[in-house]
Parts: sequence; structure tokens; C-alpha cells
Amino acid sequence: MSNTNESWGSRIGLILAMAGNAVGLGNFLRFPVQAVQNGGGAFIIPYLVCFLLMGIPLLFIEWSSGRFGGKFGNHSTPYILDSMVKGRVLKYIGVFGIFTNIAVVAYYTYIESWTMSYVYHSIRGTFNGMTQGEVAGFFNSYIDISHSTTGIPYEAVWFYILCLIINVYILSKGLKGIEKVAKIGMPLLILFGVILAVRGYTLGTSGASSMFPEANAWDGLSFLWTPQYSSLLDLKVWMAAAGQIFFTLSVGMGTIHCYAAYLKSKDDIALNAVSAGFMNEFVEVVLGSAIVIPIAAGYLGLDWVLNNASFGMAFQTMPYLFEQWGSILSAAAGFMWFGLLFFAGITSSLAMGTPWMGFMRDEFGWNSNKGAWTFGGLALIMGLPTVFFYQQGVFDEYDYWAGTVSLVVFAMMETILFSWIFGMKKGWKEITDGADIKVPHAYKFIIKFITPLMLIIVFLGALFSPLNNDWSGNLKSLFSGNGWSLSNTSIIKTITQSGIKEQIANATDPAVIQ
Ligand code: PHE
Ligand code: NA
Repeated sequence: MSNTNESWGSRIGLILAMAGNAVGLGNFLRFPVQAVQNGGGAFIIPYLVCFLLMGIPLLFIEWSSGRFGGKFGNHSTPYILDSMVKGRVLKYIGVFGIFTNIAVVAYYTYIESWTMSYVYHSIRGTFNGMTQGEVAGFFNSYIDISHSTTGIPYEAVWFYILCLIINVYILSKGLKGIEKVAKIGMPLLILFGVILAVRGYTLGTSGASSMFPEANAWDGLSFLWTPQYSSLLDLKVWMAAAGQIFFTLSVGMGTIHCYAAYLKSKDDIALNAVSAGFMNEFVEVVLGSAIVIPIAAGYLGLDWVLNNASFGMAFQTMPYLFEQWGSILSAAAGFMWFGLLFFAGITSSLAMGTPWMGFMRDEFGWNSNKGAWTFGGLALIMGLPTVFFYQQGVFDEYDYWAGTVSLVVFAMMETILFSWIFGMKKGWKEITDGADIKVPHAYKFIIKFITPLMLIIVFLGALFSPLNNDWSGNLKSLFSGNGWSLSNTSIIKTITQSGIKEQIANATDPAVIQ
């Protein structure tokens, strides 16, 4: 335990840092792809239900656990959980909240480094005059790291290392550095996002290119926003919705605990948690869905979007689409778009550095400098395989294990611990102590029963996900005695090596995040 009296400089700084933690690449790159792949309007209801019944409760749980642990001078999940319930095992469960961050930051900062490179290329005018195929080809040769796009050999690797160094440098300045980046980055991100979203909403049919005369931005928007009730019974959509809620809110990772551990013991939790959570949802649902999809639909048509939705879509298409706005506007749009992705990314990757630093300080008294550089070193070691073997599907393996499975497992364990072992009586007191809003009483019941139950279902769902994600077909087959075929991405199947190998072999489009 340390006696550091480091704490947040101001409430606005805290909220922006927490919102910056949540608002990330997930909002602009992952959300639209998940929504498109899960039927657009079909996705949105399960998504909102998961937000209210799992997202908000987990925010309350993690903020209050963090502030509680902070009272005892603890800043990372192993010690925070230990301060809530004494018992050796819990400490080990808490290790998830450190290790997952290092694994996620390794591939996350890789994408973050693409955004830096694309800011550079947008300003430099690299994309001017390129055809759509050439813009897409640029991306493919960029990630094929041995190939150089600018004459700089291993460009992607250098941008990756530069990106890590920037993160480490800011982290070495402690909370003050994070707060400053959030105060600059978040307002700019929202400004750029609003400008681009207005463009997305107003593109209408006027932007239709001569190549795709039928293209219409409104097709993209109405595809996303027309609810489809039939999907409510589709477990696959529910799994994807839950996975997106965890990832986007940064729950199940230990970053929120860590940030909240630097609160003062009388500081409000309830209103802060809800504000940061809603800010994330605003950026995701209002801005995140208004840029890539409608702009791409406006120029290339909705069918094209449906067939090509992937994490890399924003890099493969946006520079080309911006080109249609003329060379000056396109440089500005590229700067805003990739700049906003960079701010979204860095305020999240910084958050992922803090649990390791907090742990090393509490345990060994390491200062921020030592904590930050060792973190950067670990991220680099874990990250190089994704950088060098991106096209072989290593990226997807990381996102699946670290960015999806670990979050669900840790969220499930901490919720059971909070509601049932720490106990809802104490838990509710922690959530409402110092609260600046009245927390609806229903949440006491939800946190105790509904959230853990839903988490267990999601966990079992990931454990047994069926072949081709065909839940209803497999359920029928099971009940008619024909058994259950596991998907290659089910945890059970992937644990047996064959699953992983097949999955890598099947990774035809490595840019797709499942
Ligand atoms: N929430 C971030 C995003 O949407 C990702 C993240 C996950 C950040 C976990 C920190 C911790 O991109
Ligand atoms: Na997010």
C-alpha cells in the first residue's frame, strides 16, 4: 500500500478523463461494424437493454469499488478486491484487471498508431487523386509491414513505437498528464465529431457519386435506426450487444477502478458515473453512427457497406470519400477524422496504463516514471506479434481473448463478489454515499439479481457459442437429439488448439473484429 496522495485536480478533469477512458476507437470503429453485422436496427434494442441492465450497474460497481479501495491506499484491482473481501483468491482474480490491460493496449495502440500515420498522410496529400482501389490498397500495403508506403521502411512499426513512446511519456507525468490530455482531447474530439456527423446527416442523396448513382446516405441511417423486433429472440445479437457494451464502457478491465481509486472518500460517484457513461453513449450512438456508415453509404451505397463492414473500413474508404470534397476540404476532413480517432484512442490507452502503474506503486513503491516505462516495454513485447502477424489473424485472437472473453469473465466475478460477498447492503451504501443524484431504487434489485444473471448467461453463451452462431438451429438440433456443434470461436473449442488453428486459417479478412 502506498501513501500517495495523488488525486484528480478537478471534477471536470475527472469526468473528462473517465469519459476519455470510455470514449475510444470502440465508439467510431467497432460500434458501426457491430451494428451493421448484427442487422442494424436489430442491434439497437438489445444494445440499449444491455446498457441499462449491465453497463450502468457495472459502472456503479466499478466506481464504488475503486473509491472504496482508494480509502485504504489501493489503486489496482488485486488490492481493491482484497480490501473489500479478505481472502487470497480474490487477489488473484484481481490480476485480470492488470493483465488484460496490457494485452488490450498492445493491439489497441497499434490501431492508434495507424490514426497518427493517417493524419500525417492526409495533411501531406498522399491520397490526392487516388482511386478507391488505390486508397484501399494503400491500407493493405501499410499493414503488410515489410512494404513501405512512403519510402520509410517498416513505417507501420515506427509509428507503433512512436505511439507507445507518446503514451509512456504522458503516463510518466502521472494523473496530471492524463487530465491535461483529456481536457484538450475530449472537446476537440466532440467538435470534430459533430462537424463530420453533420456532414453525415446532411449528405443525403446530393453526395451520390457518378460511379454509384443510387447511393444515398439516408439508406445507411435508416438501416441503423429502423428497429427490428424479430431479432429480440436472437441470442447472437444479444451476445454481440453485450460485448460491445463492455468494450465501449471500459468495464471488466480494471481501468475504472483505478481512476476511481484517486477520488476522495466523500466524492460523488453516482452522478459522475452516469455522466461519463452517457457521454460515451452520446459519442457512440449519435456521433459514431453518423460518420462512417452514412458517408460510405452516400458514396458507395448501402449494399457495399453491408458487404464490406470491417474495422479497417474507416481506413480503407474514408480518405477516398473525403477526396470527393476537393483537396483542401479533404485534407481538413482527414485531419479531423483521423485526429478525432487519435484523441479517442489515446485517452483510452492511457487509462489502460494506470492499473499496472498503480499496482507497482502500491506493491513496490515504484514512481510514475518507472511504472510507465515498464508498462510501455511490456506492451511492446505483447504488441509486436500483432504488428508483424496482423494479416495472419493474431489481431483477432487478441481482441477475442483479451478484449472480449476476459472482460466478461472479470465482470461476472466482480459483480458476484460485489453483490453477494461484499454484500448489497454495504454495496448500496458505497454507491449512494456522497451521491449528487438519487439513484433509482430499482438498481438495488438489478445489481443484486439481474446483472449477475445476465452476466452468467453471456459467459455461458461465449463458452458454448454454436457453429455459425446459429443459436436457434442448434437449439432445435439439441432438443431433437442431434447435438450441438460448437463454433470455432466458442471458448471450449478455442481452448482445444484445433479451434485456434482453424480460426487463424479461416481469417480471410483479418480486418474484421469479431
Ligand atoms: N472503451 C474503449 C473504447 O471504446 C476501450 C477500452 C476498454 C478502454 C477498456 C479502456 C479499457 O474504445
Ligand atoms: Na467507448
